[in-house]
Amino acid sequence: MRMMSLSDAAKRIEELKEQIAYHNRRYYVLDDPEITDAEYDLLMRELIHLEQTYPELLTPDSPSQRVNGAPAEGFAKVVHEIPMLSLSNAYGPDDMREFDRRVRDVIQGPVRYVCELKIDGLAVSLRYENGVLVQGATRGDGETGEDITSNIRTIRTVPLRLKEPLSIEVRGEAYMPKPAFVRLNEQREAAGEPLFANPRNAAAGSLRQLDPKVAASRGLSVFVYSLADAGGVSLDSHSQCLEWMDALGFPVNPNRGVFDNIEDVIAFIESWADKRHDLPYATDGMVVKVDSLEAQRKLGFTAKSPRWAIAYKYAAEQAETVLRHIILSVGRTGAVTPTAVFDPVQLAGTTVTRASLHNEDLIRQKDIRVGDTIVVQKAGDIIPEVVRSLPEHRTGAEVPFTMPEHCPQCGQPLVRLPEEVAWRCVNPSCPALIRESLIHFVSRDAMNIEGLGEQWITLLLEKGFVRNVADLYRLTKEKLMTMERMGDKLASNILQAIEASKQNSLERLLFGLGIRLVGEKAAKTLAKEFGDIHRLMSCTVEDLTAVREIGPKMAESIVTYFSSPGAQQLIADLEALGVNTKYLGPRPGSDSAENQPFAGLTFVLTGTLANMDRKVASEWVERLGGKVTGSVSKQTDVVVAGEKAGSKLNKAQALISSGQKPDLQIWDEAAFLDALKRHGVEY
Ligand code: IVH
Repeated sequence: MRMMSLSDAAKRIEELKEQIAYHNRRYYVLDDPEITDAEYDLLMRELIHLEQTYPELLTPDSPSQRVNGAPAEGFAKVVHEIPMLSLSNAYGPDDMREFDRRVRDVIQGPVRYVCELKIDGLAVSLRYENGVLVQGATRGDGETGEDITSNIRTIRTVPLRLKEPLSIEVRGEAYMPKPAFVRLNEQREAAGEPLFANPRNAAAGSLRQLDPKVAASRGLSVFVYSLADAGGVSLDSHSQCLEWMDALGFPVNPNRGVFDNIEDVIAFIESWADKRHDLPYATDGMVVKVDSLEAQRKLGFTAKSPRWAIAYKYAAEQAETVLRHIILSVGRTGAVTPTAVFDPVQLAGTTVTRASLHNEDLIRQKDIRVGDTIVVQKAGDIIPEVVRSLPEHRTGAEVPFTMPEHCPQCGQPLVRLPEEVAWRCVNPSCPALIRESLIHFVSRDAMNIEGLGEQWITLLLEKGFVRNVADLYRLTKEKLMTMERMGDKLASNILQAIEASKQNSLERLLFGLGIRLVGEKAAKTLAKEFGDIHRLMSCTVEDLTAVREIGPKMAESIVTYFSSPGAQQLIADLEALGVNTKYLGPRPGSDSAENQPFAGLTFVLTGTLANMDRKVASEWVERLGGKVTGSVSKQTDVVVAGEKAGSKLNKAQALISSGQKPDLQIWDEAAFLDALKRHGVEY
């Protein structure tokens, strides 16, 4: 039914197209969406509805007419010989019964369905020639994608060589496991970098990095779910394809089922509705496919999707609750972040009471007031977010949020830099800033001072024993022992850990200083490149950007940091207190064989080491010139096996006893420590 004039409809369609194009770019190109999937779906649905009602206004360039995702700049384009289609969606059991009816109208006779979890990542296509991976590509717009072969190669679960010399093309979903996502965002927060909204954006962002080392560090994985080109091998059903791909060494998701009627399919879908939240990766639905390839051929395709498959989308689990407070926290970089605190609700398997509100603008856009009834959900199954407020429940007692003009911790005026959304406290002596920077300095990936947790740092600050990170090196046992619940043994351990941290290589100190935008990886690059903190301190922006991985923003931030008299004094103090400011690992072109005794050796570390954590052990191997890898193969020279070493140790023993690698060495922890000692490393 036509409810508006043709010109009003045309105007609205234009508006929608513009909005959708904007959000597409935020989502697909920038990996930084501003609205939820459901909000996006609403815009798209309104557009499709208007175009159906006013078909004369439908144009071929409408976003409703294509599969989304413009290829990003910077990658070669790949034309998909077999297009990468998307699926139509189902939202409830009736949609599934309707799908079954449409299938049965064409296939007169028994129909069998395969159900597979719908992994929430991004579609990739992998091409093998003679059994070797030759190309990895994104979907792009379905016809043309980006060539991301070097990034795909870094994904450990993607086989680089198949067990047979086949020429085939498989499709699957690249994703970031939940634990890797949580860790990545923690690291980004520590480096003052923007966070990823959900694991899917993080996976897409990682695969669109031009430097494959970045993708390699992100812990990505893949599940394959279809065979686009079987290379002449003849198979009868989709379930056979899955089994075959599994046998060839591809990761195929084991959580699947085969059923002969749609009611069993629906029951299977329902059985996964809650269970899926316990998986270590995010899922957003169940894909249901007709099993017989013959039947698939008969059913064929519509313009955009196959008629033999459908994606059942689980409703994003949402809950209503009441917003009690908006609290403000001051981070290490001074950014003041508002967090919503609400009555506890159950969401996707856990109890949730808080969600970041990110910044003042977002609170205003969503018109969220303290006392409001709000709708909350978990983005990508993991990060709680406030979707919207429900103004219809207001009583008039709700209080709109205003950002204070002064830092909630130190009372100094907050500033908002021109192109930023965050308000920042720029007072270098703000206690919140100091507390956060101390916590960061001692953390595992920075100076790794074990035993000095958040509570001790807070107490040390309260007692006035520390005002900056240099003061940590001025602590004495007497001072520590004045603190409540501090025992003799603990105090000794803490002092020992502080002492040991003086020997850290420069990259840990650089990361620990918390220079804005300098994450763990950049710190390592800088340490390797410049070797010594004084060389780094005398660098100009140009010197820094000459290093491949350092961009202009980071360079600017480094120069600004070291030009401040406070930072210069801090470095001088740290040096005077005996903290090492040099890079201790191998530097390109500057290493003599003498300090590189492990050069040419590949190590695998497995099991639990009693005296040092595995990360530190790997660093020592690398400093002595060795390489550390994650799995045992004929390329491995030494396996360091700690307590409870399992399959890797077994594999090493098998390689030795079968004669495949008779000279492989297995060291226990004592042998490893001995080897370090022989090369001058006391631990
Ligand atoms: S089959 C012809 N199976 O969901 C399309 N897709 O719109 C074949 N996805 O683009 C897709 N898990 O990125 C298929 N087990 C699965 C999947 C899956 C996730 C994604 C894929 C696809 C989108 C569907």
